[in-house]
Amino acid sequence: KHRVGILLSGRGSNMAALVEASRAGDCPYEVVLVASDKPEAPGLAWARENGVATFAQSPKGMAKADYEAAVDAALRSAGVQTIALAGYMRLLSNAFVARWRDHIINIHPSLLPRYKGLDTHARAIAAGDAVAGASVHIVTEQLDGGAVLGRSEVPILPDDTPETLAARVLKEEHRLYPRILAEFVRR
Ligand code: GAR
Repeated sequence: KHRVGILLSGRGSNMAALVEASRAGDCPYEVVLVASDKPEAPGLAWARENGVATFAQSPKGMAKADYEAAVDAALRSAGVQTIALAGYMRLLSNAFVARWRDHIINIHPSLLPRYKGLDTHARAIAAGDAVAGASVHIVTEQLDGGAVLGRSEVPILPDDTPETLAARVLKEEHRLYPRILAEFVRR
């Protein structure tokens, strides 16, 4: 099976969806490492409890290059072939992206190319959009700018808040990401 490493910073619900999908039926990938820049991330605890190897490295007090070298070494020693970012809230350097070119994908909570960056749901509501959604894309040096591999749409309802919309989008993320990752590793 294709060996996937996941980077996250928090809750890890997309990571859990990827792990659960990997354990069902004829999935073409397995999750061999979950790594986090936040040692206290709930997603790391979930991974440990569910038998997935973990790696935690805070970047605090380190040069960015040293932090990324440690993450890179952990991924390589786990034999990772594809990196899936799942709520990893830190920008990867150009050098890291270049070392893993076309082997890093990300899920972003908007219909790219709309609403790159943060606060996507509040921005979609403020703009009066009728639909919102999530996108899975290849990671390049441009923030949320690489080729889009798949998107999923949900309606924006009249009394949505960023929180209610985020919850509706998140459910779609959990369906979209495992499907697109499976397609990506089969490519
Ligand atoms: C998800 O909604 C993901 O799309 C978003 O963070 C959330 C993480 O939730 N990612 C970004 O905003 C990336 N810039 P999770 O930790 O439960 O998967």
